[in-house]
Amino acid sequence: MPRPVFNGMKQRLLTGLQSSGALHIGNYFGVLKPFLDIYRDYESHLMVADYHALTSLRDPEALRANIYNVVRDYMAVGVDPNECVIFRQSDNQDHTELAWVFNCMVTVPFLELAHAYKDKVAKGLEANAGLFTYPMLQAADIALYDIDVVPVGEDQRQHLEYTREAVGKLNRAYNAELLKEPKEMILEGVGVVPGTDGEKMSKSRGNTIPLFGTTEEIERAVMSILTDSKGDRPEHVYAIHRLLKSEEELAPIYEANKGRYGDLKKQLVADLEAFIAPMREKRAQITDADVRDVLTAGVEKARTTSHETLSRVRTAIGINL
Ligand code: ADP
Ligand code: TRP
Repeated sequence: MPRPVFNGMKQRLLTGLQSSGALHIGNYFGVLKPFLDIYRDYESHLMVADYHALTSLRDPEALRANIYNVVRDYMAVGVDPNECVIFRQSDNQDHTELAWVFNCMVTVPFLELAHAYKDKVAKGLEANAGLFTYPMLQAADIALYDIDVVPVGEDQRQHLEYTREAVGKLNRAYNAELLKEPKEMILEGVGVVPGTDGEKMSKSRGNTIPLFGTTEEIERAVMSILTDSKGDRPEHVYAIHRLLKSEEELAPIYEANKGRYGDLKKQLVADLEAFIAPMREKRAQITDADVRDVLTAGVEKARTTSHETLSRVRTAIGINL
C-alpha cells in the first residue's frame, strides 16, 4: 500500500461515486470502508460524479435527489467534511475542460477498448458519446488535483490505467511533467463484493443489499440470496456475512446451524441491521441545507487546486494567451 506521507508531505487521495442510485453494501465495503480507514492520513477528496451519472440517467428529479443522497450517504457513513474536501464534479467546470484536452490526446480505438463502452455495445445497446469518453472525464477528476492514490473497487482498475495513459500522453506530447500519474488502491478480499445471486453486487443487476435500506428491505434482500442445496454452508450468505464478522466469529454460528439456511439468513439480517441502523439514524438528521453547505465549501477548496493545475495545462498547450 502506498505510504500516506512522502518527504514530510501528506499524499493526495481522491475517490468518487456516481450519483446514479441508492448505494449498496458493495459500494460501502468496496470503496467507502477502505476510504474511511485511511482518509485522515491523506489530503483527501471525495467527489460526487454527477456528470458521469448523466451518461445513464435522464430523469432530472432523480438526478437531483441522487446528488443530495450521495452526499448524505458520505456524511452518514462517517466522512467528516472538515477533514476531507467533499464536492461535486459539475460545480467545477475545470473537469469538463480537462476532459476535452484528454479527448484530444487519446485515440478512438483506445476508447473503444474500455469495458463500460464495450459491454454496452456487445449487448447491442446504443452507447452515447458521453459513455464513450467517460474514462477521460474520470481522468480529469483525478489529474486536476495532483492525486497520488485512488481507492476504488476492482471494476475501476481499467479506469485508472486509462487515467495514467491520458496523463502520460499529455505529458509526452508537451515534453513536461504537467500532471501526475495516480495509482489505484484496491484492497484484497473486498475488491468484489458478491450480490444476492453470487455475482458482483451491482445496481444494474438488481442483486443488491441497500446500504441504508429499511429493516424490511434488508430482510427481503437477504431472503432472496441464492442458496445451493448441496453444501452445509450457503456460500453466498457466508460471503456477505464475512464482511461483518471474522471467520472465528462465524465458525460456531455456521457449525450450530449447519444446513439450516433460513436460520443463517436470519442471523445475517440481524448482523446487517446492527451495522446499518446507527448510520441510518445519523443519515435521517442530515438536511438538504447541510448538504448544500458542504458542497459549497468543498468546491471552493477544490477550485483553488484545480485552477492551478489547469492553468499549467492551458499554458503548455497554447491556450493561455
Ligand atoms: P454499481 O456497479 O452498483 O453501479 P458503481 O459502478 O456506481 O456501482 O460503483 C461505485 C464504486 O463502488 C466503484 O468504485 C466500484 O468499484 C465500487 N463497487 C461497486 N460494486 C462493488 C462491489 N460489488 N464490490 C466492490 N466494490 C464495488
Ligand atoms: N467511475 C466511478 C464509478 O463508476 C466513479 C468515478 C468518477 C470515480 N470519477 C472518479 C472514481 C474518480 C474514482 C475517481 O464508480
